[in-house]
Amino acid sequence: MLNKKVGDLLNIQVNKEFYSAYLYLDFANFYKNRGLDGYANWYQIQAKEEMDHALLMIQYLQNNDYEVVLEAIEKPDKKLENFDDPLKEGLEHERYVTSLIHEIYGAAQENKDYRTVKFLDWFVDEQGEEEKNASDMITKYQLFGHDPKGLYALDSEYKARVYSAPSLVLD
Ligand code: FEO
Repeated sequence: MLNKKVGDLLNIQVNKEFYSAYLYLDFANFYKNRGLDGYANWYQIQAKEEMDHALLMIQYLQNNDYEVVLEAIEKPDKKLENFDDPLKEGLEHERYVTSLIHEIYGAAQENKDYRTVKFLDWFVDEQGEEEKNASDMITKYQLFGHDPKGLYALDSEYKARVYSAPSLVLD
């Protein structure tokens, strides 16, 4: 049976994942407004992935008879001025999300809620991937982004990103 405290933390995390989607849509708009359609595409897809995370958590909670409560989603409030501001904010945000996932993971272990521990394993791996992607985007921008041709090449690379459904599937 799902531990109540763990269920509550997961319910809060649903909101955080939707906020992440909102934040990345804000990043996508920032780039779209500046003619960087590739970066915009990358963050639009990222926003879809965040919604997937939220939906997976909702489904997991429902599968375990937890009554999900949806709260208001906060307005994205990151100050974006320079081209690389979303990249830096994105990495910081993912590190924060990792800390939240680890907190739920710890609570699940503490309460011997091993089903949730197993469920969260996928999210732990996913966070590792997301932090790496965010960090790589900063490195590439620092290496190539200050030269117009380099920025164009990076933008083209990010334009090629396509959405794929999460590898975690729940019954
Ligand atoms: Fe849902 Fe970007 O972690």
